[in-house]
Amino acid sequence: MTWKEIYESKLVTAEEAIKAIRAGDKVVTGFACGEPFGIERALVEHYEDYKDVQIVNMLTLGDSPWVQPKMKGHFTLNCLFASQSNRKAISTGVCEFTTSHFYEIPDVIKNYIRPRVSIVMVSPPDEHGYVSFGTTVDYTRGTTDYCEVVIAQVNKYMPRTFGNSIKHVRDFTYFVEIDEPLPGVKSLEISDTEMKIGKNCADLIHDGDCLQLGIGGIPNAICAQLWDKKDLGLHSELVGDGVVDLLEAGIINNKKKTANNGRTVLGAAFGSSKLNDYINNNPAVELHPIDYVNNPIEIAKNDNMVSINSCLQIDLLGQVVSDTVGLNQFSAVGGQVDFVRGATMSKGGRSIIAMPSTAKKGLISRIVPLITEGSAVTTPRNDVNYVVTEYGAAQLKGKTLKERAKALISIAHPRFRPHLMLEYKKRFNEDVFTKEELKDQMAEIKENIENTVDDLRDKLRSDLKKILAADNS
Ligand code: COA
Repeated sequence: MTWKEIYESKLVTAEEAIKAIRAGDKVVTGFACGEPFGIERALVEHYEDYKDVQIVNMLTLGDSPWVQPKMKGHFTLNCLFASQSNRKAISTGVCEFTTSHFYEIPDVIKNYIRPRVSIVMVSPPDEHGYVSFGTTVDYTRGTTDYCEVVIAQVNKYMPRTFGNSIKHVRDFTYFVEIDEPLPGVKSLEISDTEMKIGKNCADLIHDGDCLQLGIGGIPNAICAQLWDKKDLGLHSELVGDGVVDLLEAGIINNKKKTANNGRTVLGAAFGSSKLNDYINNNPAVELHPIDYVNNPIEIAKNDNMVSINSCLQIDLLGQVVSDTVGLNQFSAVGGQVDFVRGATMSKGGRSIIAMPSTAKKGLISRIVPLITEGSAVTTPRNDVNYVVTEYGAAQLKGKTLKERAKALISIAHPRFRPHLMLEYKKRFNEDVFTKEELKDQMAEIKENIENTVDDLRDKLRSDLKKILAADNS
């Protein structure tokens, strides 16, 4: 049979394809921009036909229908990265959560979770009969190697990418053609604080470095500060739109990469059509399975590797909390530790944890004496290298406990430094700053105490306005 005949013989409707799912099955689905929503909608519609089916997914950009009360007994969600639509369900025990470093997730899914069915999204076949996993190769492509039933939503909006991202039509059980725009991840406006953090990170990046950038405001702010650099490389688990302009301008050109020279290496693309159009049919961008992209040994083959990730909280010892807020799962470790370790092993490498100094509209400090009870440490203190806030950079490697705490207090928000200084004294029985250093600190702290009063007054005024507006409407 020709590949076209094979393809056509496997072409069915979503309703027909999902009949292959049995009671008690574990069904792994592609994630983020590659989640096969077209087929999932059919499952949701026919939920009463299914019993005890577990959906395994990393990070959804959708609304997690599996956690609705009516799904009980029919579907449960086992996710590997909490998102807005399932965070609460994880906290209340409705949704399962599995924790793992991203580079181990292909192995965890294959050998521990063991799904029988894989549902993915792919591009239409090319003239040789190969479909592409496009934006979403990571753990997704691997599941189609070993699952007994492999169903693919074929979507013309899925870009065709290079790397280890293709598969022949003979390797699938069913194809379902549903064209719909991929879920997009829009870039939000970059705040002033993020711009300052971006500048402090950019100061640590040199010409010729190979970067791992995550997604969100801080990576985008860093990208905005890289225009005076040259010959940068990119090896990242996922990237957003922020890198496209730098790639097009040749600021990121991968010329100095010591692994995959001349090519950008990614596990997944996590942006809008701007990024998807850029990676489509672009031989200079390769997408590979995540057990390759995020394997610290592979990462370290890039000299001068710089990883940049974010966190929610860090204590004075340098323990980094990035995926929990107390007992609540906020996100997941993702590839944070993979890249921190890969960058550490890289010749000339550096790892950066970058975050705003405060959270909750400035009301709490992210730099704290003790981690919130119930939170899990994401990156252990021994792995941490640079920590960056809008107030500067603290390098922690090779520092004593006292030196670490002092460096972190120096980049905390000035409003919270007095409290941290008192906690330092409690812990180490001495003052953190010399009299001279304290003089400099006090000027900044005093200025911020004034600003705090202004901020609180402004916040109160704005809250009052909102209450009055709601009352009038
Ligand atoms: N205590 C309580 N709440 C906190 C907090 C803290 N210490 N720190 C942050 N928050 C709140 C914020 O105020 C915000 O809530 P709001 O929207 O109601 O104001 C919310 O938590 C999210 O914080 P924010 O810093 O804006 O999150 P982010 O979207 O920038 O993501 C991480 C930051 C750390 C959660 C994210 O980078 C992550 O999940 N990292 C781990 C995975 C990883 O690094 N992967 C590799 C790269 S992709």
